[in-house]
Amino acid sequence: MANIPIVELKNVSKTYSTAAGDFPALRNVNLTVNSCEFLGVVGKSGAGKSTLLNMINGVDELTNGEVFVNSNGSRISVHNLSEDEKALWRGKTMGVVYQSFQLLPMLTLIENITLPMDLAENFKPRESRERAMELLHLVEIDEHADKLPAFISGGQQQRVAIARALANDPEILVADEPTGSLDSVTADHIFDVFSRLVDERGKTIIMVTHDMSLKSRFTRCLTLVDGELQDEVKVDAKPKRSRKQ
Ligand SMILES: Nc1ncnc2c1ncn2[C@@H]1O[C@H](COP(=O)(O)OP(=O)(O)O)[C@@H](O)[C@H]1O
Ligand SMILES: [Mg+2]
Repeated sequence: MANIPIVELKNVSKTYSTAAGDFPALRNVNLTVNSCEFLGVVGKSGAGKSTLLNMINGVDELTNGEVFVNSNGSRISVHNLSEDEKALWRGKTMGVVYQSFQLLPMLTLIENITLPMDLAENFKPRESRERAMELLHLVEIDEHADKLPAFISGGQQQRVAIARALANDPEILVADEPTGSLDSVTADHIFDVFSRLVDERGKTIIMVTHDMSLKSRFTRCLTLVDGELQDEVKVDAKPKRSRKQ
């Protein structure tokens, strides 16, 4: 599956119209993400990271350019889908993980995961429950399945949010600062969960973060500065040992 383009952005620009005038949040972004990549995009606050993800998952309209996603055997021009088509397509194709977890507080953990399955009608109700338990097991939180989100920690809630993102078995996950609200040890564990999903489950992950210290841990990492994607600098993440004795 390596080196198969799964997400392609061609000359993507996004300009927000505000009372103070037009604001270019993304400028001419070209990007190809291959299947099974764990791509990191780092940049300061306001660089356009969330906007970039919203262009990829079709949550927001681009101003110029094209976004293609090749998944489930078809090539979709995301920018040409209607709002209804986009919502349906996103539910099947892309799991989304946010900084603030965004679990539904009145639903138990397992119900948070069965809900997107039931909405997509991909699985029968009993199947969706079994599948939700498997996903909770995958992220090592199954023992808390019947608790409400308020009764578990932030790191645990993020595990549940990742399981929810996987509910309809999307090939692609996009994650917006998923470790941003977590202490560094917990953040590390969440990072490991993502890495395993790439290595063991063949997922493609696009994660944006302002945390530059994560740079070397992605399979590839790009930098966004004021809405522009910087040219890639090839760095050997694991420097060879010196030959000197
Ligand atoms: N809906 C909006 N309307 C106007 N400006 C926006 C809107 N969303 C984001 N912006 C502006 O676009 C820039 C990029 O925002 P964002 O993509 O959220 O950056 P990041 O996620 O890197 O912090 C920021 O300057 C932000 O203020
Ligand atoms: Mg953001």
